[in-house]
Amino acid sequence: MIVLIGFMGAGKTTIGRRLAAHLGAEFVDSDHVIEERIGCTVQTFFAREGEPAFRALEEQTIVELLDGPPCILALGGGAIGSTAVRDRLADHEVVYLHAPLAEVLTRVGGDVYRPMLHRPDLQGLYDGRLEVYESLASITAQTGGRDPGQVTEEVLAAL
Ligand code: S3P
Repeated sequence: MIVLIGFMGAGKTTIGRRLAAHLGAEFVDSDHVIEERIGCTVQTFFAREGEPAFRALEEQTIVELLDGPPCILALGGGAIGSTAVRDRLADHEVVYLHAPLAEVLTRVGGDVYRPMLHRPDLQGLYDGRLEVYESLASITAQTGGRDPGQVTEEVLAAL
């Protein structure tokens, strides 16, 4: 399975869809699967149940997806906080998409549907996660200031 990781707004959905189209594979977004299961948006669930409840559901959903049929799977930016998820990624091709925080904010900074973007220490969250993404990646691609087609070609060549 090819698994896309990276911060919010790094391009996981955009590049994931393109990779899936090139490879004739299905694209799956873990947040969409979670939303189908809970019947509301991630943002609503966060507000109603809190982050720990979301993380538990996220971990369970992703572990199931990683054990399921092969696809191109995009993980929510915070999914790598789970040890169970991190451990299972060792068995898959992990593509880390990186964009500078300033560009992330230009792309999705105003998105009210991403609760974690509005945390006070966003820079600290970004810096802390970067190290984790890097440690898990088998392929890293920079998406900052780049055309999605170019990034997709680079990832395809590295697979
Ligand atoms: C989150 C990222 C979101 C979503 C949730 C929490 C995070 O996914 O899972 O809002 O903690 O970074 P995207 O990375 O697809 O925006």
